[in-house]
Amino acid sequence: MGGMTTPAPPCPEGWFCIGFSREWKAGSVGTRRFAGGDAVVYRTRRGVLRVTRPYCPHLGAHLGAGGTVDGEYLVCPFHRFAFATDGTCARTPYGTPPKASLALLPSREAHGIVWTWHSPGGAPPAQELPSLPDSLGSPRAFRATEEAGSPQEVTERAVGRILSRSGSRHVSLRTLGPGAALVVIEPVRRHLHAAPWGLVLWVLATPVSPGRVRRWTAGSAAVAPAARLPPPLPHRARQNDAALRGGRGTGSPTPSDPGS
Ligand code: FES
Repeated sequence: MGGMTTPAPPCPEGWFCIGFSREWKAGSVGTRRFAGGDAVVYRTRRGVLRVTRPYCPHLGAHLGAGGTVDGEYLVCPFHRFAFATDGTCARTPYGTPPKASLALLPSREAHGIVWTWHSPGGAPPAQELPSLPDSLGSPRAFRATEEAGSPQEVTERAVGRILSRSGSRHVSLRTLGPGAALVVIEPVRRHLHAAPWGLVLWVLATPVSPGRVRRWTAGSAAVAPAARLPPPLPHRARQNDAALRGGRGTGSPTPSDPGS
């Protein structure tokens, strides 16, 4: 008899990177895997970005398969119902629009990242995105992979590798959520430079299906001294920071690091 396989735990609650702002020009529509299903991301002509579950509330057409942007509306490819940015049906070719809405997912754009909220029960965001200083810049994705594990596990592994390879003792780490962490590596000889600077590495892990995660490791070279990293997140995130450090890294905590 074959062995029993343990079902993967559900995707955790939190803000996750679903892609990068530059991927969606005005008028574009694209589909991404997100938390066990498809999500359609689109940007209106005026630049408003929205993320929605893909099925049209009329008869269920997939909005990522032929859906188009018309001005500020997302238009279904099937019967041309048009949906406003609040999700409501604003126009149809057949008269009065029905009381039907898209299943919008909460989304934000910050530092060139499109963040989307996921809650297993569909609850609204329990917290806002951590506020980050502009000096951290916007990351350029240079590596994307798909891996087995939970977002927390995948983030932990990636951060562990960064810390063990950094070769610097000036490393700061912040957990931004269950699938996001920020590592700032400052050069040892930074006093030789007129201004402190650092290599900012973003580890972004997004659940695409139970037990599968898409991970980006993205970098931005920025004027971003570790002392200006955002304050630590609440208790649970601090525990995550400590777990991520857990004996793997060569970097010793900086004065701004809660793990010190
Ligand atoms: S299925 Fe979308 S308008 Fe009919």
